[in-house]
Amino acid sequence: MATCSRTPFAFLMALLLLLSSSSTTRAEEEAVLTLDAGNFSEVVAAHQFIVVEFYAPWCGHCKQLAPYEKAASILSKHDPPVVLAKVDASDKKNKDLSGRYDVQGFPTIKILRNQGDTAQEYNGPRDADGIVEYLKKQVGPASVEIKSVQDATDLIGDKGVAIVGVFPAFGGSEYDNFMAVAEKMRNDYDFLHTLDGGILPRGDKAVKGPAVRLFKPFDELYADSRGFDKDALQKFIEVSGFPTVVTFDTNPTNHKYLLKYFENDGTKALLFLSFDDDRIEAFKSQFYEAAKQYGEKNITFLIGDYFGLKESEVPLLFIQASTAKYIKPTVEPAQIIPWLKEYTDGTLLPHVKSDPIPVVNDQPVKVVVADNLNDVVFNSGKNGGRTAEEIIDFIKKNKGSKPGESVVGDDAAETDAMEEQELAPESVKDEL
Ligand SMILES: *[C@@H]1O[C@H](CO)[C@@H](O)[C@H](O)[C@H]1NC(C)=O
Ligand SMILES: *[C@@H]1O[C@H](CO)[C@@H](O)[C@H](O)[C@H]1NC(C)=O
Repeated sequence: MATCSRTPFAFLMALLLLLSSSSTTRAEEEAVLTLDAGNFSEVVAAHQFIVVEFYAPWCGHCKQLAPYEKAASILSKHDPPVVLAKVDASDKKNKDLSGRYDVQGFPTIKILRNQGDTAQEYNGPRDADGIVEYLKKQVGPASVEIKSVQDATDLIGDKGVAIVGVFPAFGGSEYDNFMAVAEKMRNDYDFLHTLDGGILPRGDKAVKGPAVRLFKPFDELYADSRGFDKDALQKFIEVSGFPTVVTFDTNPTNHKYLLKYFENDGTKALLFLSFDDDRIEAFKSQFYEAAKQYGEKNITFLIGDYFGLKESEVPLLFIQASTAKYIKPTVEPAQIIPWLKEYTDGTLLPHVKSDPIPVVNDQPVKVVVADNLNDVVFNSGKNGGRTAEEIIDFIKKNKGSKPGESVVGDDAAETDAMEEQELAPESVKDEL
């Protein structure tokens, strides 16, 4: 444990987190208010907006949050100042506080508004600059007005999803509903509003409001809606604002979709291959086509740059359903859609993990069961080889770049966290 870890956990954490090796000064540490059961309510009640980190001194993830202290120091000079606080959730006397805010793991960071009346989970970046930018936006209005082409360029950007309400006037029930949804979903998306659809970068310039145009860096790049019922608007944003095929690679822009992808318990179709593969475009387009065809059957799609899977067995197509798993190694682009059809037709044979390896396995058609398959297919890779299943289980368990994912008091989580902390960026490159 004392050495630099090569665990998959560290590997993924590093990948998702963009490790920043930062240390803090005393002044930065002190920029974070220390709260406990004795003064929490009083301090929170005095703030319209306050951020609280629930931490445990032993938790490695929490120590990673030196950036939090740095951010607190920067934000204390913001106008108006943004206050960051922390609560030692491992201290028994603070147990009720952890309960009240549903703290399941460490660190959990909450944004409290209106003197603590509303609490929302912080799920922004974990580096100091990222935290500062994110909180500056959180403390401002839920939706920002676009007044010029320049505003539109600056605010919409090309890295994330931005939702723009176009209105004939800033008032009325459509406007109010838009603002209510913006307030509710501001954590995950950028909301903007304008009187002039003509200054927007894509889509029909002559659009007359009320209308909503969602800009995205993937798929068809924008989508329009005229529904202003709050639930319908929220649904439109969730569906339209999510890629048809999620990409699993080192690009940080993709990570929030990745986390959301694994939060969903539905059936998953995952394609792992080297993104250097000559046929990558063919794979992408076939897989995208498959997603279009089978997305409605409650299957979600992910394409991943292969991670330590045995090279000669990728491209590997994998289906994870609630009751079974299906594997297709060395898949060809043209086989993707037919294989998915077999799956949806119910004619594919699942791959059963719990079966023991048959003692005698010399029938003409070999009974390939999981444990065997792992040996046969994956375990001889140059990186030691991981099974797709291991990767999926592992990601599901460790989407811990989000606050609150490690289990409170879980020794294993603690160990992993410490290892993760010791992982230097250089070794990440090795892992990759
Ligand atoms: C809250 O009380 C603790 C002692 O119980 C103290 O260390 C801390 O500084 C107090 N925080 C504030 C903001 O007054
Ligand atoms: C999709 O699958 C999830 C998880 O199994 C389930 O909760 C949801 O109801 C399903 N949706 C549809 C439309 O079948």
